[in-house]
Amino acid sequence: MSYLETAGRIAREAGLMIQAKMGSGFAAEEKSSVFDVVTEVDRASEQLIRQRLEEAYPEHGFLGEEESFAHAGELADRLERAKSEPFVWIVDPIDGTNNYVQGIPGFTVSIALASYGELVAGVIYDPCRDEMFWAEKGEGAFMNGSPIAVSAAPELRLTVVGTGFPSKAANRQAVMESLRTIAPQCRSIRSLGSAALHLAYVAAGRLGAFWEYGLNAWDIAAGVLIIEEAGGKVTDTLGWPYSLTVSHVVGSNGKVHDDLLKPMIEIGI
Ligand code: IPD
Ligand code: CA
Repeated sequence: MSYLETAGRIAREAGLMIQAKMGSGFAAEEKSSVFDVVTEVDRASEQLIRQRLEEAYPEHGFLGEEESFAHAGELADRLERAKSEPFVWIVDPIDGTNNYVQGIPGFTVSIALASYGELVAGVIYDPCRDEMFWAEKGEGAFMNGSPIAVSAAPELRLTVVGTGFPSKAANRQAVMESLRTIAPQCRSIRSLGSAALHLAYVAAGRLGAFWEYGLNAWDIAAGVLIIEEAGGKVTDTLGWPYSLTVSHVVGSNGKVHDDLLKPMIEIGI
């Protein structure tokens, strides 16, 4: 079985487990702040994914959102180190935990594989719609078996753009500031509550673009590869190329990228 097939199988297993536990009275608690929530299902999902990956590839590295939180001070070093490691799996066990806790559809499992810092495989599974998005380096991007491509919209005014509202105040402020300029220029704005879902939707042409400040590698790594393989473009908010340490991110169909970046370059982070 290929890395991609293994990741897809595990993402589906975790996603169906998460969905089955929705509304089951799971425990939820604050993580870094009152705006940042984690549930026992996030932890159970990460444990399941980690166990399956370790069974399949005992020699590969693993970077998951929940285990990373316990060693938050080491995250930058671990991401830097991942750039020189042969294989590291980067996992968000539930992206969109706030949606999950509130009973709102729009949460995903995101699994990416990096090799020497390059993304080589990525899957994003949305159990609510049973939609699996995936890509392998050089092989194109797919949703439930059909090829996907970014939107052909040539201008922001023809584009629906996604964004998110991060938990840290400074990052949320940066989103608000850029939104003030971007919202009047595009057809509409969506905030679906899962960065991975936004990126998957850019790849599938449902959104023309997405930006957010203050994300982490597990929120975005799989989506970055899927967008690139679908013909789109991903950079940081200053226009520099994506790398595993990027947290302020812009993904688009390529055509609207520079216009979207303008207010962010002014903000300067
Ligand atoms: C969050 C989601 C959300 C985004 C937040 C992220 P989590 O991830 O991706 O859409 O706005 O910034 O932290 O906590 O649900 O994995
Ligand atoms: Ca998460």
